[in-house]
Amino acid sequence: MATFTLPKNSKINAPGRTHKAEGASRLQKFKIYRWDPDSGENPRYDTFEIDLDDCGPMVLDALIKIKNEVDPTLTFRRSCREGICGSCAMNMNGANGLACTTAMEDLKGEIRITPLPHMEVVKDLVPDFTHFYAQYASIRPWLQTVSTTPSGKERLQSPEQRDKLDGLYECILCACCSTACPSYWWNSDKFLGPAILLQAYRWLADSRDEMTGERLDDLEDPFRLYRCHTIMNCANVCPKGLSPARAIAEIKKMQAERQV
Ligand code: SF4
Ligand code: SF4
Ligand code: FES
Repeated sequence: MATFTLPKNSKINAPGRTHKAEGASRLQKFKIYRWDPDSGENPRYDTFEIDLDDCGPMVLDALIKIKNEVDPTLTFRRSCREGICGSCAMNMNGANGLACTTAMEDLKGEIRITPLPHMEVVKDLVPDFTHFYAQYASIRPWLQTVSTTPSGKERLQSPEQRDKLDGLYECILCACCSTACPSYWWNSDKFLGPAILLQAYRWLADSRDEMTGERLDDLEDPFRLYRCHTIMNCANVCPKGLSPARAIAEIKKMQAERQV
């Protein structure tokens, strides 16, 4: 079996700090990954206790409470608090998800929180999305046309054509799927991964787009598309209930159909 050695400064071996919630009526313990590149220290896990009777129900409520009341240096992303912006994606008890839509009561025991796996860390729970966004830009995620319409006229779709975008347009680019995909872990330099491929299919499936051939040409590559081995982690983990694996299968089908 292959073994991998982490770089010395990635090992989680700095002494963690413990913050107790004295007098709590309903105690919930958190173990949270901490790393500050400016400190020169290795990563560590800090332990925080909170009183569930004095906190909202979601994991994000607890993180905000910890930041506001216990440790203002705890760093994480969040914005909408309702599963729309995708910014609070993280790994909770081993599963990727959105902190704002994950209820603490659905997680058993001590809750361990780490950044999304296999991404570089900026600080604490904040992963670096630079490469992910560059991959997104590479698929040209906008409507491309060559024909012209009479001025002032929009490009229309039938209800049936519009229906084909359901299950695609809802993607919030949280990266829960891509960072749960083993193929993406090992080949993210070349493989686009489930999130970006779902977005690529969103434009291939759009009846108004006129660059289908060029889009398929760009994806016809042993790495960009074909590193997906239908392991399905992506579909199991998507907090919006989407299936990137199905979108990837549709792209492969479109590629196969133009070979015949
Ligand atoms: S189905 Fe494909 S993209 Fe989804 S997790 Fe598996 S290998 Fe990755
Ligand atoms: S497909 Fe789902 S998990 Fe993947 S980026 Fe979009 S919303 Fe997030
Ligand atoms: S804060 Fe926007 S999705 Fe969680």
